[in-house]
Amino acid sequence: MERLLGAVQELSLARDLQTVMAIVRTVARELTGADGATFVLRDDDKSYYADEDAIAPLWKGRRFPMETCISGWAMLQRQHVAIEDIYADPRVPADAYRPTFVKSLAVVPIRRTAPIGAIGNYWATSHRATEEEIMLLQALADSTSIAMENVELVTGLEARVRTRTAQLEAANRDLEAFSYSVSHDLRAPLRSIDGFSRLLVEDLEGKLDDQARGHVDRITAATTRMADLIDDMLALAKVSRGALHEEAVDLSALARAVVAEQRAYAPERQVDVHVQDDMAAHGDPSLLRAVFDNLLGNAFKFTARRADARIDVGSSDVDGEIVYFVRDNGAGFDMGSADKLFTPFQRLHAADDFPGTGVGLATVQRIVHRHGGTIWPESKLGEGTTFSFTLRRRR
Ligand SMILES: Nc1ncnc2c1ncn2[C@@H]1O[C@H](COP(=O)(O)OP(=O)(O)O)[C@@H](O)[C@H]1O
Ligand SMILES: [Mg+2]
Repeated sequence: MERLLGAVQELSLARDLQTVMAIVRTVARELTGADGATFVLRDDDKSYYADEDAIAPLWKGRRFPMETCISGWAMLQRQHVAIEDIYADPRVPADAYRPTFVKSLAVVPIRRTAPIGAIGNYWATSHRATEEEIMLLQALADSTSIAMENVELVTGLEARVRTRTAQLEAANRDLEAFSYSVSHDLRAPLRSIDGFSRLLVEDLEGKLDDQARGHVDRITAATTRMADLIDDMLALAKVSRGALHEEAVDLSALARAVVAEQRAYAPERQVDVHVQDDMAAHGDPSLLRAVFDNLLGNAFKFTARRADARIDVGSSDVDGEIVYFVRDNGAGFDMGSADKLFTPFQRLHAADDFPGTGVGLATVQRIVHRHGGTIWPESKLGEGTTFSFTLRRRR
């Protein structure tokens, strides 16, 4: 009884048929002290001897027509069967048993209402199965039937998740291809708007009044902004395309290169930057470069109003996982809006306060996700911001 309860518990945790069969074939033998046990599955009109545990080989892997074998009889009749002398019973196909050790047997159907299989017990010496043994076996078969239904449910769900994921991925690929070609195609007309408005200004040199000049300036500014948007959208679309080329990356060197570039954009600024030494990572170098371009770009941008700007790049070990961070003491933001940050075109600051397109962090998040990591912000309005991220764990 105790063994049965243990088995019921194990069965309730089984998530695949292999596990169910492995539990049943051992427990079935232990319950009755039999010399062998088989796990039989109904396969259309055949009895399939899927698994066994016995002192010598039985029929593992073989299929017999249900009308000609005992497990088939138990399934068709939806009842157990116990036979003390198999060679005296006409239901037993003697030829199939002659090569085996079997003298006596007991078989119970799995799922009595509409059997999907059977459990067999076999003895090498003459044995009359007791009512208690049959009861234990039938109880095991009933739990097996529930376990098999669970397995079917789980595999059905897994299959559905797989199909849905594949559909989603296909839809995503289409969208990416679309935004890539749109961004790409928008460049040509934009270049001609920009080019011709410049030509117009040259042609009208000296004839433009201040108001007209202001209008042209706004056209030029708008085309520049649109060009930035297109570039950022292209960068975002590119991140999801193509394979990752992962290798060992010297993140300290990478961050320092980005810092040097940022300093060059605004040589007049005094920014106190600290990059931790010997920071290593494993990932796609050009994508990790884009991560730092964006995170450090933001750190420089949002500290622009501070005379004592300070930026830290480093990593720490959190429960065996490396967490990389980029920290600044800039404008910060209200954490209440933090969930919007990673959505393309979402910005928490006005464009005339701090310019930008709002695509950078969406790009960064995609890169981090493609590397199997996560990214999250911590910020306080007026005090500063830290972006932390992880990458795929490597053994
Ligand atoms: N270091 C930072 N400090 C303060 N706000 C930030 C920082 N990084 C990002 N943000 C906020 O997140 C928004 C989205 O960032 P991002 O996607 O890089 O777009 P962009 O830099 O073009 O504005 C920014 O507009 C800003 O409101
Ligand atoms: Mg940015």
